[in-house]
Amino acid sequence: MTDSLGVELRGRETAAAIKEEIAGLVRSSGTTPRLAVVVATGDEATLWYVRSIAKAAAGAGVACDIVDLGPAAQAEGIRATLERLSADPGVHGVMLQTPLPEGVSAQELAASIDPAKDVDGANPLSLGRLAAGLPAFAPATAAAVMALLDRHGVTLKGARAVVVGRSTVVGKPLAHLLLDRHATVTVCHSRTRDLAAVTSTAEVLVAAVGRAGLIGAEHVAPGAVVIDVGTNPTADGGLTGDVDFDAVIGRAGALTPVPGGVGPVTTALLLRHTVTAAGLT
Ligand SMILES: NC(=O)c1ccc[n+]([C@@H]2O[C@H](COP(=O)([O-])OP(=O)(O)OC[C@H]3O[C@@H](n4cnc5c(N)ncnc54)[C@H](OP(=O)(O)O)[C@@H]3O)[C@@H](O)[C@H]2O)c1
Repeated sequence: MTDSLGVELRGRETAAAIKEEIAGLVRSSGTTPRLAVVVATGDEATLWYVRSIAKAAAGAGVACDIVDLGPAAQAEGIRATLERLSADPGVHGVMLQTPLPEGVSAQELAASIDPAKDVDGANPLSLGRLAAGLPAFAPATAAAVMALLDRHGVTLKGARAVVVGRSTVVGKPLAHLLLDRHATVTVCHSRTRDLAAVTSTAEVLVAAVGRAGLIGAEHVAPGAVVIDVGTNPTADGGLTGDVDFDAVIGRAGALTPVPGGVGPVTTALLLRHTVTAAGLT
């Protein structure tokens, strides 16, 4: 909860501060961390996103190789690439971008990423370590939610936190991260009965569903801090979140916009994880 209402938690400032920190670390170390992003799709929005990671990396002094295997790539070829990059001492971070060709499981393949280089926390071992409270990279999106909460001074100890969504990429790792910080965590999903009754108990509410406008004013307690992870394409080629921004902004204590909220921080944390994997932090 915050004392004021309607604060917009913009991600761009947080992302810029993280990238500045990274650039400083890279300059003072004299080492160039290297991230390899493996991609196997013809999806234009995904390819654009991957190029945006490379651009952000360049700005922070991190080298980024886009390893494009094309939309016809098969599981064995992707696995061999992940193994090769994991064994390459010149590569510090390895990420497998989804979507993958039909029938290819990202979770199965991510097991081939060395956990020490698993900067997007995709290897099931990373999630297991996270759940066990052992050092591991969290998925960058889950880490981005935590970074936004921390940068804005949101108290988590003892807070009632509700996460809507239980994917291995966002909801589950985030629940563990919040639990580690002593929040009392409830996780909701598609079978949750009376979603609004649960979410409206939250002091910190995170929506990670993929349904435009699912969270309305009735889902939000007055003064709650609301983080919108959802990215849903709009008819005009833009993006919108899971939270009905206009309905919620006047009721929430703080709310992240989409775009410009969690997204830019996610990219910045991918780079910070790469810097950590390179031994700079
Ligand atoms: N900004 C970023 O950096 C970033 C990164 C990753 C993902 N995202 C976005 O975040 C959203 C979630 O991604 P994801 O990969 O976690 O999606 P996902 O794997 O499809 O998981 C969606 C979750 O939402 C739950 N759900 C679906 N309908 C619901 C409903 N009506 N009420 C309550 N829960 C419901 C599902 O429940 P069940 O488990 O019961 O099916 C599932 O747990 C997407 O919009 C995605 O594009 C953003």
